[in-house]
Amino acid sequence: MSEERRTYDSNRHEEEDRALLEAARALLSQAHAPHSKFRVAAALEDERGGIHPGVNVESVSLGLTICAERNAVFGAIARGATRFRRLAIVAETRRPCVPCGACRQVLMEHAPDLTLILEGPDGRPEAVPLGSLLPRPFTEY
Ligand code: THU
Repeated sequence: MSEERRTYDSNRHEEEDRALLEAARALLSQAHAPHSKFRVAAALEDERGGIHPGVNVESVSLGLTICAERNAVFGAIARGATRFRRLAIVAETRRPCVPCGACRQVLMEHAPDLTLILEGPDGRPEAVPLGSLLPRPFTEY
């Protein structure tokens, strides 16, 4: 049993987590990943239930690539959202798809209480507190 599975609270509404994963999955075809061929999509839920989309967008100058998760949170902020509940993440070829370190840092700055909804190896949702993936975050200077 994975670490992520152990953190899934059986009191969660699994159907709602599934629905958010589906919202992310519906975005996968919009990912722009001609270099890695690894498409990622994210659906970020704000405090009012609004869903903010994100996909990875790669650049031919590879380091300029933006991950799906940061794309989602930056877009949400541009739309005026400030507080967030859940972030579902899916990828075409790997599950679960966990956020990279850079995305963990950015997400923590905007949504320290965020719950990540990942797709478990069996396809069922896994709920993982963002904070459990980034102990001792850098939050101020
Ligand atoms: N990527 C994401 O969008 N999110 C992740 O959580 C992992 C990595 C993207 C970046 C790049 O476009 C591709 O996946 C391969 O690293």
